[in-house]
Amino acid sequence: MRGSLLVDNIGELVTNSPGGDGPLGIRRDAALLVEDGEVAWIGPARDAPAADRRIDAEGGAVLPGFVDSHAHLVFAGDRAAEFAARMAGEPYTGGGIRTTVGATRAASDDELRATVRRLRGEAMRQGTTTIEIKSGYGLTVADEARSLRIAAEFTEDTTFLGAHVVPGEYADRPDDYVGMVCGPMLAAAAPYARWIDVFCERGAFDVDHARAILACGQAVGLGVRVHANQLGPGPGVQLGVELGAASVDHCTHLTDADVDALASTGTTWVSGFEPTTVATLLPGAEFSTRSPYPDARRLLDAGATVALATDCNPGSSYTSSMPFCIALAVREMRMTPAEAVWAATAGGAAALRRTDVGRLARGARADLMILDAPSHLHLAYRPGVPLIRQVLHNGVPQCRQ
Ligand code: NIG
Ligand code: FE
Repeated sequence: MRGSLLVDNIGELVTNSPGGDGPLGIRRDAALLVEDGEVAWIGPARDAPAADRRIDAEGGAVLPGFVDSHAHLVFAGDRAAEFAARMAGEPYTGGGIRTTVGATRAASDDELRATVRRLRGEAMRQGTTTIEIKSGYGLTVADEARSLRIAAEFTEDTTFLGAHVVPGEYADRPDDYVGMVCGPMLAAAAPYARWIDVFCERGAFDVDHARAILACGQAVGLGVRVHANQLGPGPGVQLGVELGAASVDHCTHLTDADVDALASTGTTWVSGFEPTTVATLLPGAEFSTRSPYPDARRLLDAGATVALATDCNPGSSYTSSMPFCIALAVREMRMTPAEAVWAATAGGAAALRRTDVGRLARGARADLMILDAPSHLHLAYRPGVPLIRQVLHNGVPQCRQ
């Protein structure tokens, strides 16, 4: 959108940048100018420059758009019956992934695209301006490549998850499947992917297979992320740290050594960006599988960098709502509201090694939301309430709620 746009009458401006108060870099009586899709100026409202257009925030808080760094949006069908069975006492094992693989393989490109578009729209209306999208429900060369090709129509942060589970046709020869993932599947997927991920868990891929697959991805220039320590303790977190992963995700069952390993990679906070291995917590998965939540407090107190993401997928976490995840993290994972908001914005950006999003400062992308509430606290204080009044993505106002 051409021309300048001033956002003023802001109740509280969360910047995640130096120059404001506290870890969220909060500024009051501030205004923000957008030009060419970027933040061009932030300063006291009384000094605001003239602009072509104006948005009156009506005293609402303004925050950076959410960065959802973990989502599986390319799939067909749903698993509502599996959810109902879990709520009646069945455990979650990850085995249902194969049900979605069958439905995904049978779907047309347009059906898959329509699902991604619907979920991307849902997320945007809830404040998510950056989203990572994984493959992982195709599990053939052609179906993984098309999943990523479709994902790339919606985001720059696409992740090849050919190693989600071993598909049924390879059930008794997992070594052959790993060879295929590292060979023709990676070759077909890599042109559409920025990241590679592996589900390193009992029942999915063991640490040797996971290391081999991630190393193949690194060798062709993909960044590393790992699904680790979701269903039980295991080697995934340590593997991620060893390989310099941008993020290890789930982190539900951690030993002291896992926490120390994550903390040893350093902390990214308001002062700047360091390429740490982020612990990305996905409380929607624990909610939907009725499992114990990860202990965010333990990670934060040890000095690890924590991100929050939705894990949106039809099996273990069918939510696209970052505000819901913030509310769970505050209520169930001992995060303060400020820590949870940081984790859902700047933390997600760190998990994607992005410096252009997750913060509001001169030169950052003009991705922001205006709340129907005076402060970020309300995101956890008023759970389940549609508080996001307006979203700007690349400086362009999205549909007003
Ligand atoms: O992140 N853990 C592996 N993958 C997804 C679950 C996918 C599914 O159940 O369909 C997750 O929770
Ligand atoms: Fe996941």
